[in-house]
Amino acid sequence: MSTITAEIATGSTTFECEDGRKLVLCLEDNGVDILHRCGGNARCTTCRVEVISGEAGEMGEAERNILATKGDLAPNTRLSCQIRIASDMHIKVLNQASTTGMDPGTRPEE
Ligand code: FES
Repeated sequence: MSTITAEIATGSTTFECEDGRKLVLCLEDNGVDILHRCGGNARCTTCRVEVISGEAGEMGEAERNILATKGDLAPNTRLSCQIRIASDMHIKVLNQASTTGMDPGTRPEE
């Protein structure tokens, strides 16, 4: 298990998450209404987070390619649908249903 601390619109939340799970699912299962509009397929980038500390793992080609199309992102921006939990992490969630008014989208697969 790893400890995840997430900065969200209403402050900060901390929870435990099983190693190997997708970060986006851990966030959702712990009450964070993060967007994941493409269903976890590294296409929409709405699930993006900023990694403040912790090990997010290697970036895959699909993630690297889609993030490269967005010029205005901080260098520590990652897609939470592409991160498998492997260590304690501190992150900032950038897009929530409650702040954007958007439907979160299809839940990504485990
Ligand atoms: S890029 Fe669409 S859910 Fe992650």
